[in-house]
Amino acid sequence: MPYASKYEGSEIMEAVLSCKKCLREYKVKRGIPRFVDISNIEESKAQTARNFGWEWAVFDQIDEKYEEQFLGWLQPVKPSFFEGKVVLEGGCGKGRHTLITAKWGAKEVVAVDLSEAVEVAFEKTRHLPNVHIIQADIFKLPLKRKFDYAFSIGVLHHTPSPKEAFIALASRVKENGAISAWVYGAENNRWITTFVNPIRKKITSRMNPRLLYHLSKIPTVLVFSASKFIYKPFANTFLGKNLFYRDYMLYISRFGWREQHSIVFDHLVAPIAEYIPREEFENWWKAINAKDVQITWHNKNSWCGFGRL
Ligand SMILES: C[S@@+](CC[C@H](N)C(=O)[O-])C[C@H]1O[C@@H](n2cnc3c(N)ncnc32)[C@H](O)[C@@H]1O
Repeated sequence: MPYASKYEGSEIMEAVLSCKKCLREYKVKRGIPRFVDISNIEESKAQTARNFGWEWAVFDQIDEKYEEQFLGWLQPVKPSFFEGKVVLEGGCGKGRHTLITAKWGAKEVVAVDLSEAVEVAFEKTRHLPNVHIIQADIFKLPLKRKFDYAFSIGVLHHTPSPKEAFIALASRVKENGAISAWVYGAENNRWITTFVNPIRKKITSRMNPRLLYHLSKIPTVLVFSASKFIYKPFANTFLGKNLFYRDYMLYISRFGWREQHSIVFDHLVAPIAEYIPREEFENWWKAINAKDVQITWHNKNSWCGFGRL
């Protein structure tokens, strides 16, 4: 039951939510119900929340190519699938997919994130009455209701237990509902797990994000130049077809500097990043007894999954 102390229009901006059953109280601050206190959770999660909170406050742009990108991650789901559905998003970051979900006709969208990125997501979606942003942990979703559809893009592999996070998300989906997840794949990413991961774990994820923001421009120059001036123009030549990490580099060549910088920064800032083998990903779907499961290899470096419950 909410005790609201500040409204803006019909939006409750400041309030206290009190649960009669567990006798706990949760604040609504700046329009967002807060079910997690970052200063009072495990350090690995807190670090994840701090780093991503910083990332999405700075890289808050909404790129026109996000819809196409989102569809790639959601495959085989199409925009019409969202029409009239009550949707849960696990880990919304700056709310780029929350916005698209509402645009594609979802009846209601509840988007959850652990970090202060919820502030950005709230600002971007506050004009949409059917969108609700909540700060919460995917492992402890404060939601009784069940959803027609849940999705999670690029989040589960940043949690201490990706499979448990997936199961927690799936537990909020109705019978006959559906779920989608996109995760980093282990296959084809040995170079990242061998060479980049130790640097990410020991150095870049522990660094001041502002310093990383500037330092990450160095690898971005390499990725940006290679994608725009080598992979794209030579894509259909013999050389271009045999280049290292071709599918992914061609894929990101569509983005400009700002987005590529955000992608590079994102790969270096996360304290936790698991790379999931296909077999393990398949087991997640068995664990939730999903039907009609479709698993797709995306850019030959990540896994998209879809299933019905
Ligand atoms: C790489 S970002 C992806 C955000 C968004 N899905 C997107 O594609 O723009 C990962 C997000 O997962 C969130 N996250 C990490 N652990 C979480 C948890 N335990 N519960 C909820 N969100 C979490 C982070 O705060 C971050 O915003």
